[in-house]
Amino acid sequence: MTTAHDTAPLPRELSDVRGWFPALDQVLFEWLLTRQENRGERGDLLELGVFMGKSAIFLGRHLRPGEAFTVCDLFESDAPDQANTKEMAKSYASLTREAFERNYLSFHDALPTVLQGPSSLAAEHIKPASCRFVHVDASHLYEHVHGDIATAQQALLPNGIVVLDDFRSEHTPGVAVATWEAVLNRGLHPICLSTQKLYGTWGDPGPVQDELIAMADAREDCGLSIQDAAGHRIVRLRSRGMPAPDFPYSRHGAPVAKDRPAAVAGTSSAPQTRPPGKKPGRSPVARIAVDVLPPVITRAVRRRRSRRY
Ligand SMILES: C[S@@+](CC[C@H](N)C(=O)[O-])C[C@H]1O[C@@H](n2cnc3c(N)ncnc32)[C@H](O)[C@@H]1O
Repeated sequence: MTTAHDTAPLPRELSDVRGWFPALDQVLFEWLLTRQENRGERGDLLELGVFMGKSAIFLGRHLRPGEAFTVCDLFESDAPDQANTKEMAKSYASLTREAFERNYLSFHDALPTVLQGPSSLAAEHIKPASCRFVHVDASHLYEHVHGDIATAQQALLPNGIVVLDDFRSEHTPGVAVATWEAVLNRGLHPICLSTQKLYGTWGDPGPVQDELIAMADAREDCGLSIQDAAGHRIVRLRSRGMPAPDFPYSRHGAPVAKDRPAAVAGTSSAPQTRPPGKKPGRSPVARIAVDVLPPVITRAVRRRRSRRY
């Protein structure tokens, strides 16, 4: 069956791929995965729910030699129950596996292992304690998310990271219930919250939280607040006009008239033009203003700038 997505233009850059992957979450994925890599933490990657491939394409760039990347999605297959069938018809009606694969191969030379079917399939295919990073973003109904969290817990290495999508959106109460239930009853420790996602671990969240707080503190474009809840340190992060990290163009080439430096097309190892997590530089005028204006005025200017985003 040919759908509108199959005939959509080939993506030139990640932002051309339809999906739900805000800049703050791209920054957090990049920071957390790079931190693991810098610390020599190796392990497989798993994503439940890929849609058109936006976050999978991003994750695929972090695949290191010897690691496996597995994704699972229903695509055109039947959903396992009525409620999930309704969810699919409402939100992902025109999705095809072909459209996902076409997008993915625009950025990478090879596909991940693709499991087509309900996310419960992953529990059978993924070896226990083999993954360093699991993104749970398939069905947003309670029973499914509950099962997906169990899959993630079993799949993850001791300090591995799970990301739970839409844990507090108005239209996804089931994810909220499953998420906080996992925190309160199933030993999941929150690392941080973005607007859409909860990042957690069944390991010790303290060291990664400390580094994350320092990273967020150093960025003007990242709001940070810390609270305690039921014995957990809750680190809440917020974008203040944060740009997405640089990501290489696809093999279909750089857009013609874009105000950004050209990155290398079609490779998974192309260099980024700004190191992840680094504060974007201020313009010379802004730098002088910060140096010469009284702090009260500088703070007011910063507040105005952050309100613009
Ligand atoms: C929110 S989208 C994923 C978005 C994607 N991660 C991104 O960043 O663009 C949810 C995906 O989950 C899939 N899905 C829904 N129910 C599922 C189930 N029970 N098992 C596996 N996949 C499912 C849908 O087909 C859809 O592609």
